[in-house]
Amino acid sequence: MSNTQFDRRDFIKTALAGSAAVSLASLAIPAMARQEAHSSALHYGPMPGIAKLDANENPYGPSKAALSAIMKASQQGGAYYAYETGLRLIDMIAERYSLKPENVTLSSGSSGVLTSAALYASQTGKILGPDLFWDTTALAPHNQGKADILRLPKTNDLAIDLDAFYEAITDEVSMVQVTNPNNPTGRALDPVQLEKFCIKASKKCLVLVDEAYNELTDMPEKHSMIHLINKGHNIAVGRTFSKIYGLAGMRVGYLLSSADNIEKISKFGMGGYAMNQAGLAAAIASFDDNAFLTFSKEKIEQGREMVMSAVKANGLSALPSTTSFVFVNLGDVNADKFRAEMKAQNVMIRGVYRDYLSWSRVSMGKIEDVQKYVNALPRALDTLRNT
Ligand SMILES: Cc1ncc(COP(=O)(O)O)c(C=O)c1O
Repeated sequence: MSNTQFDRRDFIKTALAGSAAVSLASLAIPAMARQEAHSSALHYGPMPGIAKLDANENPYGPSKAALSAIMKASQQGGAYYAYETGLRLIDMIAERYSLKPENVTLSSGSSGVLTSAALYASQTGKILGPDLFWDTTALAPHNQGKADILRLPKTNDLAIDLDAFYEAITDEVSMVQVTNPNNPTGRALDPVQLEKFCIKASKKCLVLVDEAYNELTDMPEKHSMIHLINKGHNIAVGRTFSKIYGLAGMRVGYLLSSADNIEKISKFGMGGYAMNQAGLAAAIASFDDNAFLTFSKEKIEQGREMVMSAVKANGLSALPSTTSFVFVNLGDVNADKFRAEMKAQNVMIRGVYRDYLSWSRVSMGKIEDVQKYVNALPRALDTLRNT
């Protein structure tokens, strides 16, 4: 084997590194999904008649272009490892953000790279996050019996106090994690304030910004912190094809950071072995599919307006959202009980988060499914208030 070939293989191993399905917990399938899988013939996605509004998926995907790429890639490449396809996607991503391929790593969904980052950070300290954020992957070290997450105190308006965040970065913190826009609140931070925070905070530790919903903001570029990587700040940004791209089941996500961080974080993942031809082909076909992205964004906005009006009409309130979900305040109604009542009407949503007992997250879906939520909402509230 020539040196060039060897270097390339070596590069592939590290550049594609990322998915860290390292703990059994991260492989666990939610009980509800497992039950449904066993009770039905092989069926992909929610059963007919179920409005699945609980995981912020985009049911308008995969796009037509993605579907034909999935078929072609499976026919031509399903029998082969997907290294070259992975490198193609890495090149496209690097070019879009004016980065180098060494600044990009892929994983099976962004959960892989975010888990790798958490495990990497846990070698030298603790992860600090807001009270509420998408903490599934930040919990990986805790799930392995290592350090728990440090959290900021709750705020009344569920906003993130960036000054308090900065002050909370003590010597024991090795990484701060921000989900922006945040999940489950749906709020985006002011980009200027966030940029200042990232620059200051990254002098103390690694700053991980999870931008899973960035494309849904009014000005995605302005809200992104990717440009700070180019300027040499100690920042990593996670992105995914699971949300607006409509490819949650195809499992492709990525992390951007300095070449040094990418190399170190990648050691906690499965490398190119985590990637598959069909998912990569779908991601490549979707990356620049602006017509599909615009269509999806419009549907999500239409759904949000429907939910916001229904919330108001039923005497409730919700946080403003720049994402594909809305965080509804049910007042005196418990969010787990509300979820059960909605499920009885074939509408799946989220229940209680931590100790936010009255807050309920609903994802946007196909418009007819959002309409089912709108119809079921008053009936569920009535039942709960009269029992
Ligand atoms: C904020 C955020 N980040 C990351 C993820 C992980 O998604 P995936 O692994 O499908 O990229 C999710 C999933 O809901 C999310 O909400």
